[in-house]
Amino acid sequence: MSDIIIISGSPTELSRSEQVLKYLGSLLESNALSVSHFSVKDVSSQDLVAGNYNSPAIKQIAAAIEEAKGVIIGSPVYKGAYSGVLKAFIDILPQDILKHKPVLPLMTGGSPSHLLALEYSLKPLLATLKAHNLKGLYLLDEEIDKHNAIPIIGKDILERSRKQLDYFTQLVRHPALALSETY
Ligand SMILES: Cc1cc2nc3c(=O)[nH]c(=O)nc-3n(C[C@H](O)[C@H](O)[C@H](O)COP(=O)(O)O)c2cc1C
Repeated sequence: MSDIIIISGSPTELSRSEQVLKYLGSLLESNALSVSHFSVKDVSSQDLVAGNYNSPAIKQIAAAIEEAKGVIIGSPVYKGAYSGVLKAFIDILPQDILKHKPVLPLMTGGSPSHLLALEYSLKPLLATLKAHNLKGLYLLDEEIDKHNAIPIIGKDILERSRKQLDYFTQLVRHPALALSETY
């Protein structure tokens, strides 16, 4: 059982958003939280396309989410929204799986004009699973070096990312805060 589950919604092999997620995971680990990483790539394309709720991979991921104290979910922007494969993945997760869980949503995109994809696509999707959404993070491709150990480049965005992670950690450690504060 891990404290935190991190889910990557990118189908790409060496993915920018996934590298950022891995980095955030390493920061959480250095803060004494245990972390498990999953990806849409862990579920067979056959199960995703067929909408197979009984997929062994999805059952294992769902069990890990249920045990976790918080979840981070990342996706690239594809055609102005989250990736299609992330939607297929979420479609076969149990209903209300994110109930009462702090969730940090993250998106990466090539263009600043799709910054609001976080607000109008990913966050509403997570809210249907009853997530307690944090403000979230949107990173531009130019702010990511996926080959670097610290893939977030730029002082401001690095600071914003760490701040969001701090809020997330506080909520994970003190769930009662969720009732009184807005992040
Ligand atoms: C099929 C496809 C569609 C994309 N559509 C958009 C888009 O609508 N808006 C945008 O800002 N970036 C778009 N991008 C760029 C990706 O969002 C961006 O490069 C992202 O960081 C890739 O993340 P990944 O490497 O984790 O998959 C698109 C990329 C692909 C491959």
